[in-house]
Amino acid sequence: MQTYLVVGGAGYIGSHMVKALLGRGHEVITLDDLSKGHREAIVGGDVIEGDLGDRELLGSLFSSRRVDCVMHFAAFSLVGESVEQPLAYYLNNTGKTASLLLAMKEHGVGRFIFSSTAAVYGEPESVPIMEGAATEPTNPYGRSKLTVEKALADCETAHGLRYATLRYFNAAGADPSGAIGEDHSPETHLIPIVLQAASGKRESIAIFGDDWDTPDGTCVRDYVHVNDLVDAHILAAEHLLSGGESLTCNLGCENCYSVREIIDISREVTGREIKAVVTPRRPGDPARLVASSEKIRNQLGWRPSFDDPRAIIETAWKWHSEHPEGYSS
Ligand SMILES: NC(=O)c1ccc[n+]([C@@H]2O[C@H](COP(=O)([O-])OP(=O)(O)OC[C@H]3O[C@@H](n4cnc5c(N)ncnc54)[C@H](O)[C@@H]3O)[C@@H](O)[C@H]2O)c1
Repeated sequence: MQTYLVVGGAGYIGSHMVKALLGRGHEVITLDDLSKGHREAIVGGDVIEGDLGDRELLGSLFSSRRVDCVMHFAAFSLVGESVEQPLAYYLNNTGKTASLLLAMKEHGVGRFIFSSTAAVYGEPESVPIMEGAATEPTNPYGRSKLTVEKALADCETAHGLRYATLRYFNAAGADPSGAIGEDHSPETHLIPIVLQAASGKRESIAIFGDDWDTPDGTCVRDYVHVNDLVDAHILAAEHLLSGGESLTCNLGCENCYSVREIIDISREVTGREIKAVVTPRRPGDPARLVASSEKIRNQLGWRPSFDDPRAIIETAWKWHSEHPEGYSS
């Protein structure tokens, strides 16, 4: 049994991580300032409400508790907002992560798993995207994450930190129990938006362009079930804790579907109409964003169990239909 600090454990992915770690018998401490997350989403373990940039808080936490591995999910992650408020993104995503890493170094905590993003690649030259592809993010959100990736490599050189950087593509779905799920405000991810249109919470779903160079003209994305994503973190943590080298891997399934396909499957799953309206393209949207997942499959033996978007959407629909207003706090 290990002790994990899950930073951002009240958020969408972090809450699934907390549940999975507890289910495997680990000790879990969640640190979250609840700026975006939900207290009810944390199903157990110890909870500290606070800011990851609070050095005093982290100092007293690491002095009083042995932590084997830190999993860091906390960030701001709205691309448009990052363009309008870049400093808020550099401060929260980059500066406060540096502060967390410093507290870890001061207290001898040497294993770290970082939630990075496909946004570090920017416009891909080819798909599926391999980890060695150029990293040229097109927005401050992507740059705030890429800067942390670089800092991690520097911390390994300087202090021997061992880390796993996981670059997520589109996390989707919910825990099959229906107990926890995705509740962002504002919501910007396709599947929950489509399901909000199915449940009547929004009138329609916008398709940003249907003249892309893709089979049906709408953008193609790679969807990973949130519990598969969480499983990859457990494999990465076991790898680091058993003395493995640092690594940077994509977390996508090569499970690529167009926006129109996701809407059609959602209509079948929900039995609802779901009105879709084609609007102009959004600047900066690549036509296809698909990960190569070869590296994580080969190095960590990761095998996603949800490789069908229907199953992913079914779990998301269970959550959304049972919690039409999301969490109550
Ligand atoms: N959801 C996706 O599809 C996706 C894709 C790529 C990358 N990511 C990355 O994965 C991570 C988790 O994503 P998510 O969708 O679960 O996000 P989320 O917003 O649901 O969760 C983030 C959590 O971090 C907390 N937080 C933010 N700043 C904090 C701070 N300074 N101190 C303490 N807590 C703080 C929030 O309250 C929230 O609970 C993020 O780093 C995001 O950039 C997500």
